[in-house]
Amino acid sequence: MNTGLLAFGLTTLDINAYPIDALTHTERAILIQGLECAPAGTAAGAALVAARLGVKVKLAGAVGDDMNGLYVRAGLERIGVDTALLATRAGEKTSSTLLAVESDGRRSSFHRAGAGGAPPLDTAVRDAARASRFVHYAAIGAPTADGGAGAELLREAKAGGAVVTCDLIGPRPSAIDEITRILPHVDYFMPSAAEAFFLSGADDLSVAAQRFVELGATVCVIKNGRQGALVLLDGQEHVVPAFAVTPVDTTSCGDSFCAGFIAALDRGWAPLDACRFAGMTAGLVAEGVGTLGALQDFDATVSAMDRYDLAVESVLTV
Ligand SMILES: Nc1ncnc2c1ncn2[C@@H]1O[C@H](COP(=O)(O)OP(=O)(O)OP(=O)(O)O)[C@@H](O)[C@H]1O
Ligand SMILES: [Mg+2]
Repeated sequence: MNTGLLAFGLTTLDINAYPIDALTHTERAILIQGLECAPAGTAAGAALVAARLGVKVKLAGAVGDDMNGLYVRAGLERIGVDTALLATRAGEKTSSTLLAVESDGRRSSFHRAGAGGAPPLDTAVRDAARASRFVHYAAIGAPTADGGAGAELLREAKAGGAVVTCDLIGPRPSAIDEITRILPHVDYFMPSAAEAFFLSGADDLSVAAQRFVELGATVCVIKNGRQGALVLLDGQEHVVPAFAVTPVDTTSCGDSFCAGFIAALDRGWAPLDACRFAGMTAGLVAEGVGTLGALQDFDATVSAMDRYDLAVESVLTV
């Protein structure tokens, strides 16, 4: 029987600092509340959060042979992610991002590119995909996967019985060609609202979701910040509200939404209920600094769903 999750794609180190409202240019250190390093990226961030929620997770990705890479690997392993498919590339740097989060939640992001954008796609990864219950594909734009290899991986995964979810980050205009190749093998396509507008050219999320389903996705879930998520499922549109959390740092909300969604499906929850759980997962991540934020575990997230109100911003759009 297929078990667990294989997350395939972008792996980075995030360094999040909160709050940074101004650069002071003085020698004096300014005391701040939060300064956290954590594995992150559309694949590694989702892998970390899913493991925290009790899912058995493997990550296929890449780091460099620098200190950042050591930290990413150790951080993933500490939360229980299997890193046997995480390659270390000699002579390369680990993709890393410095995020300065302001008191009001806005953030400035500084990225140093590295090995993380090119996950390995070899026999071991294909075997893992065929044996997994879920494959989270977060490699659109990766030179190792674009152009047919990624689509073939997903075709094999689905033939082996896997459920395929897909998220992306910062797509280039050419990403639409890859999405056209990938979506016929995707059960749940989960872009953010900005990505959905950009890729579809639509100015309405319903139209965008419809386009992605026409391109082959079985279900489309568009994440839309505090306005919740728009879900196109079996031809019916739903808005799943976000929760009225007090956000500190919304970095990795999208990745954690995907992880929460998979964790709930893994426990047998129906897709719309899984989206509600995903919103709570992302909300708790937003209440703290960094990839895991204030997230504890699956049961604590379920109890939080009873405790928090729904965000008015998303209720108004229903
Ligand atoms: N300010 C917020 N308050 C409550 N929930 C939030 C907030 N921001 C995000 N969320 C929750 O997280 C989900 C995903 O967030 P978002 O739409 O920002 O994804 P994203 O743009 O992919 O994020 P990322 O920057 O991590 O890639 C939302 O659908 C919502 O449930
Ligand atoms: Mg995102």
